Amino acid sequence: MAQLWGGRFTKETDKLVYDFNASISFDKRFYAQDIRGSIAHVTMLARQGILTAEERDQIIEGLNGIRKDVENGTLLITEEYEDIHSFVEANLIERIGDVGKKLHTGRSRNDQVALDMKLYTRDEILELDRLLKCLLETLLNMMKEHTETYMPGFTHLQKAQPVTFSHHLGAYFEMFRRDRSRMKDIYRRMNTCPLGAGALAGTTYPLDRDYTAELLEFDGPTRNSMDSVSDRDYLIELLSAMSTVMMHLSRFSEEVIIWNSNEYQFVELDDAYSTGSSIMPQKKNPDIAELVRGKTGRVYGALMSLLTTMKGIPLAYNKDMQEDKELVFDAMDTTKGCLTLFTGMLATMRFRKDRMADSAKHGFTNATDAADYLVNHGVPFRDAHGIVGQLVLYCIEKGKALDDLTMEEYKHISPVFEEDIYEAVSMKTCVETRNTIGAPGKAAMEQVIAQEEAYLIGE
Ligand code: ARG
Repeated sequence: MAQLWGGRFTKETDKLVYDFNASISFDKRFYAQDIRGSIAHVTMLARQGILTAEERDQIIEGLNGIRKDVENGTLLITEEYEDIHSFVEANLIERIGDVGKKLHTGRSRNDQVALDMKLYTRDEILELDRLLKCLLETLLNMMKEHTETYMPGFTHLQKAQPVTFSHHLGAYFEMFRRDRSRMKDIYRRMNTCPLGAGALAGTTYPLDRDYTAELLEFDGPTRNSMDSVSDRDYLIELLSAMSTVMMHLSRFSEEVIIWNSNEYQFVELDDAYSTGSSIMPQKKNPDIAELVRGKTGRVYGALMSLLTTMKGIPLAYNKDMQEDKELVFDAMDTTKGCLTLFTGMLATMRFRKDRMADSAKHGFTNATDAADYLVNHGVPFRDAHGIVGQLVLYCIEKGKALDDLTMEEYKHISPVFEEDIYEAVSMKTCVETRNTIGAPGKAAMEQVIAQEEAYLIGE
């Protein structure tokens, strides 16, 4: 048991207490951030004359050595240390001797851990953003390919009006685009440096907090030392944003599962992204989509958990806050994994245009257009709605689509129908005449695609 704080104690910590308290098993993942923060700290200390240039150089060399040895596997981060901060400091002192004991001047583990977690989270936000961008690029390629792939649009999971596959995917594009902008907002709001806040009340050393912030690429130092060590808002915001990403992925997964079902067959998942059954030889299951849908619960859970952990904590640092890490790390790993797998699944999926078009045709998705046809020929909309309702009922009895009715059958229900009704209710007409901004018509869709393309190049 290697502890930094033995001085005022007369007894060894109980082993169970030690294990309960320790965080090394999970905070070891930010050893690189801890070392980076320490290098900035001693660089600032030397500039302020608190350390000599020689002491600074020795400490930095020692810290870089530790990082290298951890990375090449010659130095293992073991559980004999309480946390990653103790591990780095103890190893530094072992390497360079007493000068290593000066590293922690004007610093507390409270501002240190606040810094490490911010540095780690900043990198993770950039990685999440990169993965979201890959997903958007995949979606945009598919959108370009399917501007004439007709499919039913649904409300209440009932066929409603025809759209294109491009348009349907475009809705998800908007969701993930908003997710990226949330990541950007969180990054901007959290990008202040807590180092120098000390345990809670700053320090008597003449620290240059602006300089430390600059060295660590923050926009500036935090403004209140008590808030600096006890702010976990940015983690709650990130968990909330990741929960929203997962909610979007989960909805999309649900659609992929439906589209891939035996009944729909709109898409076929690639063998590399499907799994079989140990008993039923015919099965090819959409496990990836199901797992993404299922894992959403974990990320929501982490958000609830951290909100609850934080709700009763008086200022400033309390050990409860150590609970932020496992939750946030798990949620980050889960969200990144799901984004990666989902993008791969989409990119390898095959599409059955014939099945989609057929489904649109046989679901009376053109019924509104048939009513609009009558309106254009002078029939009031409410009457037109009733006439087409009768047509639909007739079609259901005969097992026909609107497109398949003979002229006689049309005329029998309303004499207003003429030959041009076939053109008016064709899938192509129904979709291509919807060309207002944001609508599924090819011309409207192509304008949006051009805008999304420019956005992806820009950010
Ligand atoms: N492991 C602690 C955490 O994650 C680091 C800060 C410890 N500070 C303290 N005063 N015990 O929050």
